[in-house]
Amino acid sequence: MKPTEIGSRQAGYDRRDFQSYQKNMKTISKTAKMQSTVLDAKRRGRMIAFVPTMGALHEGHLSLVRKANKLADIVVVSIFVNPTQFGQSEDLSKYPQSLDEDKRCLRKLDVDYLFLPDEAEMYPDGYVTYVEAGKITSILEGASRPTHFRGVTTIVAKLFNIVQPDVALFGQKDAQQALVLRRMVKDLNIPVKLIVAPTVREKSGLAMSSRNRYFDGEQLNRAACIFQGLKEARKLIRSGEADCGKIVAAIRKKIRQTKGTEIDYISINDTETLDPIKRVSGKVLISVAVRLDGVRLIDNIIV
Ligand code: PAJ
Repeated sequence: MKPTEIGSRQAGYDRRDFQSYQKNMKTISKTAKMQSTVLDAKRRGRMIAFVPTMGALHEGHLSLVRKANKLADIVVVSIFVNPTQFGQSEDLSKYPQSLDEDKRCLRKLDVDYLFLPDEAEMYPDGYVTYVEAGKITSILEGASRPTHFRGVTTIVAKLFNIVQPDVALFGQKDAQQALVLRRMVKDLNIPVKLIVAPTVREKSGLAMSSRNRYFDGEQLNRAACIFQGLKEARKLIRSGEADCGKIVAAIRKKIRQTKGTEIDYISINDTETLDPIKRVSGKVLISVAVRLDGVRLIDNIIV
């Protein structure tokens, strides 16, 4: 039983119980064990919430875990740096890792199971099956990273089959990823409810990201120009500007003023279909991908 269910004021409960409870998170590395564990929990009527991650956890990830805890009896978090979603020239081999610290954070947040498979477990010899989601994966992130979403949909479909969650949580930070996964869940009739939670930001407005670990303080300050550009766009739209060309130009100006930036794309799209938009007339998704000193960062807002 979790301390929240026990209630901290209940007679007989003291801090030591809580601390010993915290050490209880189980790490599972085998798919068969993960599957049998959740099946057993489900047979006992437990609801399962799932937060898939690639580790190097930060407050963005942890906000999803906190939400998961409120939604279900059992919380499963996965950490797997999924090779199939990285392009050949991308940062797979140097993707940040901090497993010990990640485990400490997850234990503190009362996570029940950490699913921590290795590559051979997820993609054993002879692996040939991939999940692809069509047109919405070929624009924005997909235009710059052509095989990225195929990797994401494949791994998330596999993780859903292994963890069999009732609810799974994703971040608005990766807006297109969330839309692609919603489409996949619908198209493949996967019985899971997706929840997309708001982007968690640094005080400067910079969206939290595992890749921010590549930066020092001065670079982090510069990276804040991305959100400043997005805020500028929001201000323009709220003051009546509808011409997407002008809005994009304002974001571009803001980002270009900052040393070491190289814009990959700035785009305004429909929030559901991701069709590009020329004039703002309802809700729009504004997304940006920028390299700062060579590190690729993405961010977005819905206005
Ligand atoms: P990763 O980048 O580790 O992110 C895991 C989850 O955390 C994603 O749903 C992502 O959108 C969310 N997230 C990241 N930064 C956030 C922030 N600042 N605020 C709120 N949520 C944030 O996304 C992936 O891993 C992978 O593609 C994955 C889905 C695990 C498949 O491999």
